[in-house]
Amino acid sequence: MPDTTTPTLTLPGGAIPVLGLGTWQSEGSDAELAVSAALQLGYRHVDTATGYGNEAQVGRVLATRGIDRDDVFLTTKLPPDHADRARQTLMESLAALGTDHLDLWLIHWPPGKQARPDVWEELRRSRDEGHVRSIGVSNYSIAQIDELIAATGEAPAVNQIPYSPVDHDAALLAAHRERGVVVEGYSPLKRTDLAAEPIAAAARAHGVTPAQVVLRWHLEHDVVVIPKSVRPERLEENLAVLGFTLSPDEVAAIDTLGR
Ligand SMILES: NC(=O)c1ccc[n+]([C@@H]2O[C@H](COP(=O)([O-])OP(=O)(O)OC[C@H]3O[C@@H](n4cnc5c(N)ncnc54)[C@H](OP(=O)(O)O)[C@@H]3O)[C@@H](O)[C@H]2O)c1
Repeated sequence: MPDTTTPTLTLPGGAIPVLGLGTWQSEGSDAELAVSAALQLGYRHVDTATGYGNEAQVGRVLATRGIDRDDVFLTTKLPPDHADRARQTLMESLAALGTDHLDLWLIHWPPGKQARPDVWEELRRSRDEGHVRSIGVSNYSIAQIDELIAATGEAPAVNQIPYSPVDHDAALLAAHRERGVVVEGYSPLKRTDLAAEPIAAAARAHGVTPAQVVLRWHLEHDVVVIPKSVRPERLEENLAVLGFTLSPDEVAAIDTLGR
């Protein structure tokens, strides 16, 4: 069970907190400090990947912070070049993370730019065996998701894709929703011009930072968001977006930054 303070969306294998901690480029002791500070602040969702090289750091913090494993939503990702040894990679991830199950396991990128239903079958098997609660993909197109559905009858629970105001595409969000796929947005801040007027205007109106407006905008669209920071004050700032809402007009104005 994830925490009770972060709202959640429903996945087939359980609830996903709508805001989590990103950990790409959080390395070594920085990763441990970030995960530790985030859990202390109340984050209950951590996004890592085999490719980030920090699963062991994440696992160490989870083991020492005294937080019930069931209270943290844990995601990791299968690197595309491990597609033919998915099971072995999963076992290594579980060992590094110090857990017997993941909450979400994603195919990090389409292996060889292909959908690879056979790899998707491997994820389904791992889920059926109880090692993973929900399974999904990352950086997949709608056409590739449809290929997985056609081959197996099962849609990914999640597609983790780059998402920020300049990426906004209502048709793309609708296409995911129609297939029952939750969108998780990555690089929400990096991809954003925080000085853009609709963002700055909403920040002034609510007395918050432009970064907070951007993260809140994701939540208004039911896009799960996983901002990365290694600075405690920013971790706190980012989590505080649970404490205000944007009006439909503010959301619509920010939407115009997209395509
Ligand atoms: N599936 C994929 O292919 C994929 C690809 C990329 C990312 N991801 C995931 O998505 C997560 C987030 O994406 P990301 O790390 O690329 O980018 P991001 O979260 O948009 O941006 C992180 C950058 O923004 C800074 N930052 C954090 N909070 C801030 C704030 N309140 N105000 C101003 N700057 C702030 C961070 O610096 P400090 O750390 O110095 O605070 C860092 O430089 C990743 O960590 C990873 O877990 C997945």
